[in-house]
Amino acid sequence: MIVLGIETSCDETGAAIVREDGVVLSDVVLSQIALHAPYGGVVPEVASRDHVKNIGPVVRAALAAAGKTIDDVDAIAVTARPGLVGALLVGVQVAKGLAFAADKPLVGVDHLVGHLLAVFLKREGETHDVPAFPFVALLASGGHSAFYRVDGPDPSLCTELGATRDDAAGEAFDKVAKLLGLPYPGGPEIDRRALRGDATKVPLKAPMPGTLEMSFSGLKSQVARWVEAHGPLDDAAVDDVCASFQRVATSTLADKLVRAARQEGVKAVVLGGGVAANRELRARTREGAAAHGMTAFVPPVKSCTDNAAMIAYAGAKRFERGERDGFSLAATSRTCLPRSTRKGRGAR
Ligand code: KG4
Ligand code: ZN
Repeated sequence: MIVLGIETSCDETGAAIVREDGVVLSDVVLSQIALHAPYGGVVPEVASRDHVKNIGPVVRAALAAAGKTIDDVDAIAVTARPGLVGALLVGVQVAKGLAFAADKPLVGVDHLVGHLLAVFLKREGETHDVPAFPFVALLASGGHSAFYRVDGPDPSLCTELGATRDDAAGEAFDKVAKLLGLPYPGGPEIDRRALRGDATKVPLKAPMPGTLEMSFSGLKSQVARWVEAHGPLDDAAVDDVCASFQRVATSTLADKLVRAARQEGVKAVVLGGGVAANRELRARTREGAAAHGMTAFVPPVKSCTDNAAMIAYAGAKRFERGERDGFSLAATSRTCLPRSTRKGRGAR
């Protein structure tokens, strides 16, 4: 079975052709980053309009790169939730149109489930091990940050163990970069600068130690207060802030991931989401897992950031289970995965 996956939940227009065993035949991602950069964040209306402009060429490019036509495709999978509704709608409508015109079955995919299963993608030239179920995963992106126990590819088998109470990890990277005057998106820029900086220069307290919940908004405020008190900063001082913030953010994520796996008695930990591109997070996760006799599965960066291959794969698993969506498939902003952590401060 080969599945065409379509992804338009945020600021990447993606289409991919993936086999049901995870082999990626093509994976085309058109990033809108340059378009949103002047605003310092994703502008929903601008995202929707750009998806409309690019989705046709992106789907055609994915088919061409795989050497396939729409007739060769067995099924169509599309991100239907969560995300910016206007952006999601573009992908959902295009998927419905293609499914109708080419008479192909259609399934909607939860974007978070796509991220959780991205570790199973096999790209050309790559040989890496894939985990067996169950595993514990950290999903850290610009919009979500949570730990999951994953017992199988069905959403009902993905259980949230703890999440951020406020900002997502990627959002914190982006906001800290902004307050330092660095370009958007902040994650890759902070990652680069942290290499040169001294992580001991800025004293920052790790948020919510000892639990599987997280809070990144307070960490960002700690950085903001330090910068206010010590500014204006020269280039070297900015590097030090980046290194100090990144150290606390990544050790929080990696430590809690290992804690979650220990709590669940699971020996495999997995990274997913755009923040999983972070060099220090990848290293800390590998070290933390090894120290507790666990194996860390760290997918290639292309599989961690937003892409349609993970959507095609998660869709293939739905098709294998015999699931189908009709033309009433709707785009919604919320995930189908139940949440254990509520947003907001204070006692629970
Ligand atoms: O998963 P993703 O591509 O899009 C969604 O948010 O769904 O994640 C984007 C986020 C951004 O906040 C970006 O700053 C962050 O991932 N990011 C990073 C790195 N690369 C991307 N954060 C830290 N270090 C990186 N190297
Ligand atoms: Zn994502």
